Amino acid sequence: MTDLLIGLDIGTSGVKALLIDATGTVVGRELRSYPLSSPRPNWAEQNPQDWVNASLDALTALAAAVPSGLSVKAIGLTGQMHGSVFLDKEARVLRPALLWCDQRTAAQCESITEKAGGEAALVEMVSNPALTGFTAPKILWFRDEEPDLYERLDKVLLPKDYIRYVLTGEFATDVSDASGTLLFDVKNRCWHKGLMSKLDLDNSLMPDAFEGPEVTGTLTLAMAEKTGLPAGIPVVAGGGDQAAGGVGCGIVRPGTLSSALGTSGVVFAFADTVTVDPKGRVHTFCHAVPGKWHLMGVMLSAGGALQWFRKLFCQQEMEEARKKGIDPYELITAAAAEVGPGAEGLLFLPYLTGERTPHKDPDAKGVFAGFSLRHSKGHMARAVMEGVAYGMRDSLDIMRDMGVPLNLSRASGGGAQSTLWRQILADTGRVSIARLEVDEGPALGAAILAGVGAGCFSSVEEACDTLIKEKDVLHPREAESVIYDDYHREFQAVYQSLQEHFKRMNALVARTNS
Ligand code: XUL
Repeated sequence: MTDLLIGLDIGTSGVKALLIDATGTVVGRELRSYPLSSPRPNWAEQNPQDWVNASLDALTALAAAVPSGLSVKAIGLTGQMHGSVFLDKEARVLRPALLWCDQRTAAQCESITEKAGGEAALVEMVSNPALTGFTAPKILWFRDEEPDLYERLDKVLLPKDYIRYVLTGEFATDVSDASGTLLFDVKNRCWHKGLMSKLDLDNSLMPDAFEGPEVTGTLTLAMAEKTGLPAGIPVVAGGGDQAAGGVGCGIVRPGTLSSALGTSGVVFAFADTVTVDPKGRVHTFCHAVPGKWHLMGVMLSAGGALQWFRKLFCQQEMEEARKKGIDPYELITAAAAEVGPGAEGLLFLPYLTGERTPHKDPDAKGVFAGFSLRHSKGHMARAVMEGVAYGMRDSLDIMRDMGVPLNLSRASGGGAQSTLWRQILADTGRVSIARLEVDEGPALGAAILAGVGAGCFSSVEEACDTLIKEKDVLHPREAESVIYDDYHREFQAVYQSLQEHFKRMNALVARTNS
């Protein structure tokens, strides 16, 4: 096989560029990180130029790693969804991009819902309710809060699509990422002009939307010279990180689903037709597989919650791990494994950055509830892992109620490396959990989409059948599942009882800080 494919993932903490051959063998992998800034509480921004620098650097390193006799045939793009890159007429970036985890737009969400004629009407139009992380409320915030700059706005691009513009000179997006803007008619896979006009947004603001494997442009000569990649190679539409991650896990046929434990936690299920939760608790988006959709429950802090716990409480484990040359999570999860299901009554709500599924609550907060003198750091670590698993179970329950068949989920992301965490997910969710032979996440999905676009595979499904293999299946254990059913009910009850308190506290903090 002489054809190589690149998947480029513009993530939240950095860029991952993956080079594979058409048998799925990883030939090269480059990571470059960049900062996230939070100029005010609840704000999350990045400088698009940081993505450009990291992407070009990673692509240059990959180009240098291409073995002689082989050549790169196509590039697929993926990345963090919902972010807003605001460009003027000369395609200059007007301000730092607001990110998916930014929570500043509660007022704009209300106004969108009202202008659409209520939540039911909005869900009817775009298959989803207004959530603070989505793109449309960010555009309205820009108009409301920075009107002078907004005057100059000509185009709104999603993060990976800004990189597409840099690589190809074309404005384009794909239908899965477009679905997360709240301006897209997910059922008919096109921009919802009616809603855009109700919101007084010009249709020309958004780029054309393509199916995942469609070619949207080619690498310009200037970018080819800069990176060392061949000029003119196709760049395909790709997908938002969740849809591309779905492809990378082979979630491309009815009955398949995945559980991703990255910074966020995502339960992702394939859908042959558009199925919408009338309460809008799980998202319904177009898939990166042409003509298909997916359902998705998103927890904002999953692996991120354990990472926060490690940073705050586990200096000692980090030091010990450094001396032993092992991953600190090995020590943290080993302590958690000493504790039984339910962590002897210690519960953790993982809502460190608010929550999306199932609560749609930007005010929600992280909570440890139920300490006693018996509790140790191991209990706390286990409570964090269980709290995330209860949140993932909430998404599974909503999907079950919608009639989605859920038997076996493919786990991916950093958190999925922990056997303990995977077993907790299986027991709490009553679903078998498999791992994947190759777990390269969204970048692999983007490379597969590039391969389909370049004609290396006949379809996304065929590519996934060839490239993606399961391993290490863990099954739910009845005795543990019964225990977790009761703890899960208490987990939900703790949130319910604190919901109003979270709102009051947020208002109090805002007053105190102003
Ligand atoms: C998906 C979502 C996150 C971001 C960042 O809806 O908000 O997965 O794409 O990874």
